[in-house]
Amino acid sequence: MTGSILGTTKVVGLIGSPVEHSLSPVIHNAAFRHLQLDYVYVPFPVHPDGLARAVRGLFQAGIAGLNVTVPHKERVLDCLDRVDHYAQVLGAVNTIVKEDGQLVGYNTDGPGFIQSLQAEGVDVRGKTVLVIGAGGAARAVAFALGQAGVREIIFVNRTVERAQNLKREIDDLVQVEVLPLTPETLQKSLQCCQIVINTTTVGMYPHTDNTPVPGQLLQPRLTVVDLIYNPLETRLLRAAKRAGCKTVSGLGMLVYQGAASFELWTGKTAPVGVMTDAALAKLNR
Ligand code: ATR
Repeated sequence: MTGSILGTTKVVGLIGSPVEHSLSPVIHNAAFRHLQLDYVYVPFPVHPDGLARAVRGLFQAGIAGLNVTVPHKERVLDCLDRVDHYAQVLGAVNTIVKEDGQLVGYNTDGPGFIQSLQAEGVDVRGKTVLVIGAGGAARAVAFALGQAGVREIIFVNRTVERAQNLKREIDDLVQVEVLPLTPETLQKSLQCCQIVINTTTVGMYPHTDNTPVPGQLLQPRLTVVDLIYNPLETRLLRAAKRAGCKTVSGLGMLVYQGAASFELWTGKTAPVGVMTDAALAKLNR
């Protein structure tokens, strides 16, 4: 945003339900201001019943691009003219761009996740990775890890069947093991992995006293990643730091997936530092 909204201002936004607590408006509007781009980012609460009408209506009204969040990432594929290969394989879209009059779907979650690890100096190639959880976030992360060349993924999930379904989807990309979420299976899998990633909501605000991994199981050779960014330092990451592990919070993934969407919409290099600072300022407020 350049300061004022003009007749020329391009509107991009977010559709989801709920969208009230999203940090994306903060991150993107800071980037638009910084680069003095005549854009504004607006959140739109969209009920699942009105998804197709909302997408069509927003683009008919001249919107330049959209982010898509829970619960629409899968169903929105039916509203688009074209879906890029990676988003098609994943079956989930988080970014829509209008290209030559067509609505095209992309997914920047997985690439954003890998970039956030690279920014912290974490190389996943050849590694055994323990992924806790088997929901939508785990799916995006697992496909990205598979494409980035990990050796093996161990899924540990409360509902084993859900992890088994995920294994079936990703089996031809990477070697996968599935275990139930118990202290014993965690202990066993932590011994043979180098990277642990929490993709569950355990430890997220307001339940900040919870952790998916008992702290005493963590060893200093591990890299511990939590996709949660509120709080920035979860109980899991606090315990991991105390145990001498390298830690990565979920803020990087949020910023890098946003940066990739920004670049798809504007064609400009996203100011990642500015976006990170804006998110941090909001979270620390
Ligand atoms: P998202 O799209 O954010 O990944 P999701 O699809 O609802 O959200 O998945 C949430 C993940 O957190 C799941 O792996 C869920 O485990 P189940 O598959 O057993 O539901 C996990 N999860 C949520 N609350 C949990 C809890 N209290 N203990 C353990 N796992 C939990």
